[in-house]
Amino acid sequence: MRILYDKLIFDLSKKGRIGYQYKPKNLASVELPQHLMRAKKAELPEVTEFDVVRHYTNVSQKNFGVETGFYPLGSCTMKYNPKINEELATLSGFSQIHPLQPEETIQGLLQIYYETQEMLAEVSGLKAYSLNPFAGAHGELAGLMIIKAYHEKRNDLKRTKIIVPDSAHGTNPASATVSGFDVVEIKSNIDGTVNIDALKEVLSDEIAGLMLTNPNTAGVFEKDIVEIADLVHGAGGLLYYDGANLNALLGKAKPGEMGFDITHINLHKTFSTPHGGGGPGSGPVGVTAELVEFLPNPMVVKEGDRYTFKKPEDTIGQLGTFYGNTSVYIRAYVYLRTLGKEHLSKVGPLAVLNANYIKESLKDVYELPLQGHAMHEFVFDGLKDKSTGVKTLDIAKRLLDYGYHAPTIYFPLIFPQAMMIEPTEVESKDTLDDFIQIMRQVAEEAISQPDIVKTAPHHTIVRRLDEVKAVRQPILKYKDLQTK
Ligand SMILES: Cc1ncc(COP(=O)(O)O)c(C=O)c1O
Repeated sequence: MRILYDKLIFDLSKKGRIGYQYKPKNLASVELPQHLMRAKKAELPEVTEFDVVRHYTNVSQKNFGVETGFYPLGSCTMKYNPKINEELATLSGFSQIHPLQPEETIQGLLQIYYETQEMLAEVSGLKAYSLNPFAGAHGELAGLMIIKAYHEKRNDLKRTKIIVPDSAHGTNPASATVSGFDVVEIKSNIDGTVNIDALKEVLSDEIAGLMLTNPNTAGVFEKDIVEIADLVHGAGGLLYYDGANLNALLGKAKPGEMGFDITHINLHKTFSTPHGGGGPGSGPVGVTAELVEFLPNPMVVKEGDRYTFKKPEDTIGQLGTFYGNTSVYIRAYVYLRTLGKEHLSKVGPLAVLNANYIKESLKDVYELPLQGHAMHEFVFDGLKDKSTGVKTLDIAKRLLDYGYHAPTIYFPLIFPQAMMIEPTEVESKDTLDDFIQIMRQVAEEAISQPDIVKTAPHHTIVRRLDEVKAVRQPILKYKDLQTK
């Protein structure tokens, strides 16, 4: 009987009902200029505090999160965010800091910034980082702006093209375009790795750089990376590392040592912070010694015992407000410090072990297009037995009935029924075994009672949605809902 709480917050509104009221006498009054004043009263729901708490608690329970159950999204990694991260990030000494506070009063925070920059440089084999960008894609933009500034400074103005393999994540060509480059797409090998002949064909003095993720979006390690780096550098270009898949390498290999010049790191994927597509996340950008002066402003440096902000000499500028997403950096810092060097080096190997365990346990019932060792994620191409017409989408929906989030589906685009699974290193063998058992059960249902799978989900709060309509015609306001 949850019907009562299916109401929207505006439906609960009763004229004159009040949640909490500040006593005006306790508040300082400020004279606002006329143009900033409302012409008429805001139309807000009039509800009690209790209504609001119940409403939002119920809304939160309609969602599925990594704290609700297993969430094996490939590429879009959902790693558990340990509670100690939250606890320390919300300490009032951090959360109450004002961005315009004098430097002497925030030395502790600057130390965290500095040490985070240093630790990221250490794990990725690069010289220095700026923590300014607010998301992975924002870090890509920063990296591409650095590539542009680097060539411009050398007066090498013909370099207007960026090479992106067709297996790349969609943000790569998008970021290159937004930064004003022309995108040159090259066809990948069947496993998504770079086709060296295709690369050689497009290299010229017009190429500014190549964007690559390693392992690639099919979870395959780019074994020719040193040759690729030599080819790109030989042609005068720079090599950009999309650090979204760094989790797989942690403790075993460093992009800087593979020949990459620039990288962004998706802290949410590797360092257990909340995600946010351009929102509350972060995408620090790191570079080799040659490129340090192009980094986004500000960086934090150490002068004697003091930490201070520094504006790099040829900086591409400031990409976000103030100093980046402070609370996210504190979380990443806590994670790095909690694991320490010794345990951090187990992250990559465990993530790879977990992924391969699931892959090997299910490959007799799900189609495995790429044989051999996977890295931290891998792809099935739908069911092995497709005779009943059950598709990847149906399997994804049926998993919801069993309390599992679906894997990433229909990405990468190179496999028509792609189902991309990434368990991460944080899941136990028991959780993996339960998931494997449910995946086998769904595969069995797909043959014995395909309709159940094709019409799933049956036990979720909403059933199968028109996802295209939801994206194209979203209802974002209560008023719009009333008129639909
Ligand atoms: C390979 C790859 N690159 C870039 C991104 C973009 O990162 P963000 O979502 O933090 O902007 C993602 C996000 O999932 C990704 O998987």
